[in-house]
Amino acid sequence: MAMAISSLLRPWPLAMATMMVLIIQAQGITRHYDFNVQMANVTRLCGTKSIVTVNGQFPGPELIAREGDRVHVRVTNHVAHNMSIHWHGIRQLTTGWADGPAYVTQCPIQTGQTYVYKFTVTGQRGTLWWHAHISWFRATVYGAIVILPKLGVPYPFPAPHEEVPVIFGEWWAADTEDIMSKALKVGGAPNISDAYTINGLPGPLYNCSAKDTFKLKVTPGKTYLLRLINAALNDELFFSVANHTLTVVEVDAVYVKPFTVKTLVISPAMTTNVLLTTSPVYPNANFYMAAAPYSVIRPGTYDNTTVAGILEYHKPGSPSTPGLDKTLPLFKPTLPFFNDTKFVTSFTTKLLSLASKQYPAAVAQSVDRRFFFTIGLGTLPSPKNMTCQGPNGTQFAAAVNNVSLVLPSMALLQSHFTGLSRGVYASNSPAMPLSPFNYTGTPPNNTHVATGTRLLSLPYTTSVELVMQDTSVLGIESHPLHLHGYNFFVVGQGFGNYDPTNDPAKFNLVGPVERNTVGVPAGGWVAIRFLADNPSVWFMHCHLEVHTTWGLRMAWPVQTGPKPNEKLLPPPSDMPKC
Ligand SMILES: *[C@@H]1O[C@H](CO)[C@@H](O)[C@H](O)[C@H]1NC(C)=O
Ligand SMILES: *[C@@H]1O[C@H](CO)[C@@H](O)[C@H](O)[C@H]1NC(C)=O
Ligand SMILES: *[C@@H]1O[C@H](CO)[C@@H](O)[C@H](O)[C@H]1NC(C)=O
Ligand SMILES: *[C@@H]1O[C@H](CO)[C@@H](O)[C@H](O)[C@H]1NC(C)=O
Ligand SMILES: *[C@@H]1O[C@H](CO)[C@@H](O)[C@H](O)[C@H]1NC(C)=O
Ligand SMILES: *[C@@H]1O[C@H](CO)[C@@H](O)[C@H](O)[C@H]1NC(C)=O
Ligand SMILES: *[C@@H]1O[C@H](CO)[C@@H](O)[C@H](O)[C@H]1NC(C)=O
Ligand SMILES: *[C@@H]1O[C@H](CO)[C@@H](O)[C@H](O)[C@H]1NC(C)=O
Ligand SMILES: *[C@@H]1O[C@H](CO)[C@@H](O)[C@H](O)[C@H]1NC(C)=O
Ligand SMILES: *[C@@H]1O[C@H](CO)[C@@H](O)[C@H](O)[C@H]1NC(C)=O
Ligand SMILES: *[C@@H]1O[C@H](CO)[C@@H](O)[C@H](O)[C@H]1NC(C)=O
Ligand SMILES: *[C@@H]1O[C@H](CO)[C@@H](O)[C@H](O)[C@H]1NC(C)=O
Repeated sequence: MAMAISSLLRPWPLAMATMMVLIIQAQGITRHYDFNVQMANVTRLCGTKSIVTVNGQFPGPELIAREGDRVHVRVTNHVAHNMSIHWHGIRQLTTGWADGPAYVTQCPIQTGQTYVYKFTVTGQRGTLWWHAHISWFRATVYGAIVILPKLGVPYPFPAPHEEVPVIFGEWWAADTEDIMSKALKVGGAPNISDAYTINGLPGPLYNCSAKDTFKLKVTPGKTYLLRLINAALNDELFFSVANHTLTVVEVDAVYVKPFTVKTLVISPAMTTNVLLTTSPVYPNANFYMAAAPYSVIRPGTYDNTTVAGILEYHKPGSPSTPGLDKTLPLFKPTLPFFNDTKFVTSFTTKLLSLASKQYPAAVAQSVDRRFFFTIGLGTLPSPKNMTCQGPNGTQFAAAVNNVSLVLPSMALLQSHFTGLSRGVYASNSPAMPLSPFNYTGTPPNNTHVATGTRLLSLPYTTSVELVMQDTSVLGIESHPLHLHGYNFFVVGQGFGNYDPTNDPAKFNLVGPVERNTVGVPAGGWVAIRFLADNPSVWFMHCHLEVHTTWGLRMAWPVQTGPKPNEKLLPPPSDMPKC
């Protein structure tokens, strides 16, 4: 207040300028981006491939905004495929039409068409990302979203010397659309990837790839903020930097209580901001940063390769940044064994909300509705005229409470908004398993799942508790579940079957981590809470793309509230049509 008054006493242009700053701080600015979806030829791993990109860049352009800003992204589709883009983790308060998943909140942007995604960044700061949300195009159509705090608001940790996005990806030498459609046709598992990438580069551990290595050039005695994003299609990853530690300060654009590790784990969909402090003296060495998968499934059925980048120290006093000095020793980090679930559990249980006065953990203390979902794989019978290549001649499938979601040929949100849901979807997805079984014991002999477009509707401001239980049907597996439109609190997790009598007593309702994606532990369960205060239809799915494709997905229509700011805005006029 004092500042506003004193600025009014200044000659008017200065006062005006100060007031403008104050207004911008309060309301943010509008940032405009042009995303042209176009083909590009890129050479990786001894071969050139034509891929779908945004603006010809791979990874795509970085989107930067401050908390409070409005973002307008004009997406024009110049390729011979349908496209849609999801702003992963952005809450989209009242702007559900801009969320992006094809056939959920919108029809795809068809060849030659344009759609302007418009949303405001509210109450979030840190790293998120954007990616294609149709078919498997997110294999190459992705990029970072950097959300800076409001002007003048510092980070709740020492200001870094530099901030660097580090995006993990997954690379196939063959066309990913061919791989996915072939797998669907024969009902078997899709071919695994050929490499992982850091910022699009596979690095020195693959053939023909040493020239395509991500190098982070650093100065001694400085702190770097690495904005880690796992954009891989199907694999959770361990990450470590030789001889350096990583201090985790934020996940999914929410600050956490800082903790320091040598190695972390990051699942597809998740983002993690870490501080890396360089050695105070020039170390006369270079260091690998490396990522390799965490998986409990059968070896040979996932890509078990390692991507490496190089942390390269700039020699003090040397005139320009030299290339990699090959005479220096190169140190490599040791990553956990592929199936080290113990490590993963020890890491994930370290994640807690910062829960400070400025950034409180607003976890709901009471619950209106409880849901229990089984999360797992299953099968569908082969069509009569063929034998599929899934388990025992069936087709692979995946389901939530035994329902494998079939997407309609129009957007779910459109039919919800216009009240024309009849014949498009049913609101009777089960809130709990219809036939309970020993979820982590011997699975039922009948592994078939049901199919349908069945959703679960929530009244405005329902306080939801959801327990997600992995199953042993076709083998236990860790599933990163992502909820659109919300952050949730991870109040509990455990192994074996969830015990509704004794487990709730162990829930953390004080400062649990808040995020938009959580791993359902392999052979275990996780409990989350969220407040359904954002009207629209919100997708929830496993972020292993292969499982989403098989039907491990569902959606929550959330009703509107009575006040104007509690309603979904009407669809924009340029909304794509089916
Ligand atoms: C990619 O390479 C092919 C074959 O050389 C060429 O026909 C095509 O125009 C190139 N595409 C782009 C976007 O440069
Ligand atoms: C999958 O891999 C097999 C074996 O390497 C190969 O023969 C086949 O062509 C691949 N399928 C696709 C769709 O790339
Ligand atoms: C590199 O190529 C060689 C020869 O073709 C092959 O034996 C080897 O497995 C390849 N290595 C990697 C990491 O792909
Ligand atoms: C890096 O760590 C390894 C293993 O702990 C150690 O032997 C080596 O001396 C370290 N190198 C540097 C430059 O700190
Ligand atoms: C990766 O998997 C292949 C196939 O199962 C196996 O031959 C190879 O030894 C594995 N590599 C590593 C590093 O575990
Ligand atoms: C991890 O994999 C190894 C080799 O496949 C196996 O011997 C071991 O039992 C597995 N560990 C767990 C915890 O599943
Ligand atoms: C099986 O029948 C379907 C539907 O008639 C057809 O599309 C498909 O090509 C047939 N598959 C084989 C292997 O004959
Ligand atoms: C496949 O069939 C065999 C023998 O009938 C059975 O033991 C096995 O459990 C079946 N596997 C699956 C995944 O259904
Ligand atoms: C469920 O299966 C597990 C593993 O086989 C077993 O230890 C447990 O006793 C079973 N629980 C029930 C209630 O049967
Ligand atoms: C599966 O089938 C076998 C043989 O028909 C039976 O003995 C067993 O109890 C069944 N298992 C389950 C979990 O239903
Ligand atoms: C799942 O649904 C299928 C198809 O309706 C049914 O055959 C199967 O028994 C169900 N399984 C469970 C565990 O409910
Ligand atoms: C693109 O989407 C429209 C609307 O859903 C659909 O009719 C068309 O078949 C799709 N085209 C392709 C190439 O998938």
